[in-house]
Amino acid sequence: MINMKTTHNILFQDARDLKNIPSESVDLVVTSPPYPMIEMWDEMFSHQNQGIQDALACSDGMQAYALMHQILDAVWDEVFRVLKNGRFACINIGDATRTVNGNFCLYPNHARILTHLLNIGFSALPDILWRKQANTPNKFMGSGMLPAGAYVTLEHEYILIVRKGSKREFKTEAEKENRRESGLFWEERNIWYSDVWTDIKGTGQKLAKAMSRSRSAAFPFDLAYRLINMYSVKGDMILDPFLGTGTTTAAAMTSGRNSIGVEIDESFQHVICPIAHHIVDFSNDYLHDRLLRHYAFVENRIQDSKPLKYINKHYNCPVVTSQEQFIFFNTLETVQACKDNIFEVTYSSKSQDLNFEKPSEPLVRNKTKTRINPSQLSMLNAQ
Ligand SMILES: C[S@@+](CC[C@H](N)C(=O)[O-])C[C@H]1O[C@@H](n2cnc3c(N)ncnc32)[C@H](O)[C@@H]1O
Repeated sequence: MINMKTTHNILFQDARDLKNIPSESVDLVVTSPPYPMIEMWDEMFSHQNQGIQDALACSDGMQAYALMHQILDAVWDEVFRVLKNGRFACINIGDATRTVNGNFCLYPNHARILTHLLNIGFSALPDILWRKQANTPNKFMGSGMLPAGAYVTLEHEYILIVRKGSKREFKTEAEKENRRESGLFWEERNIWYSDVWTDIKGTGQKLAKAMSRSRSAAFPFDLAYRLINMYSVKGDMILDPFLGTGTTTAAAMTSGRNSIGVEIDESFQHVICPIAHHIVDFSNDYLHDRLLRHYAFVENRIQDSKPLKYINKHYNCPVVTSQEQFIFFNTLETVQACKDNIFEVTYSSKSQDLNFEKPSEPLVRNKTKTRINPSQLSMLNAQ
């Protein structure tokens, strides 16, 4: 893709009404809503429906839960409308545990959301369990060592994956070429498409540091980046109707996708807009690291005498399958803040902009002739 540009639009409004986004105009939704019946979101939900505060005040947990989900349902209806046929929505959601009126119970948010998604016409696909590490001292709840009154600790969240309509088709030669450039490395695919993710933790910290922002309710950058790269191709339009701190926008920029982020709370403007100042360096480092990880994989595979039959034509680097020959990361050149919270990103079309010391000739399957720069490998191992 030559001289690629993407645009990123931040809309501060209620996502229950997205009439300014045309029907069938979005290629992928990646999002995480406020979680019903998790206390930190009570106020946010109550602002949108006074009945929720009343229900909580009367200790009517089931009524509060139902009303909170009615708010989310309206957003899922809009998500269905704006998605193109054959496109996906990936929704990160955790269940809630709560004691209301002396009764401790689980509020199964993921099941409630999935039921609504199926009712409005989405098809469910295998979901992902994202296993988080809970570091709280009160990790174990209930009657301690005594049976029949202790509760399992919730340490996982769901990523629900649903599709609107039938399978997406890539018909023209240009569409097929773009899809090939958007591919994943074989070793990434084996981890990214597994149904339990345990390796995503703390990776948001690097971004948090770069953007000096609080990320208490934010999902990790890696989570958004993976989903975008698994379920869309370069140039697609990504929507996050619950944008929060702007992680999905940042991941879309890094991935060469366009995006729209919707957020009801305007105070997030001060958190989202600094993205522009840091995203070029952050993204290019991130893409560089991704390539270095592939080189480390190649090195190990050569040492294990396992086959690497193909060469990626952009990086002159061995890959396992023919589908990886055209993978290409577009590094970022500039980010411009245009008017009304619209950002425009330009990308380089040259692979050497990753500053990777590319081997002068293809790596070969003989360990002694491997041209990987050893300092880069040790950098990677030190991470
Ligand atoms: C779990 S947070 C999203 C975090 C985000 N993924 C990130 O990485 O920062 C949910 C967000 O949805 C926003 N929100 C709640 N109700 C909304 C609505 N009706 N329309 C748009 N945004 C809403 C909240 O203000 C909050 O920022």
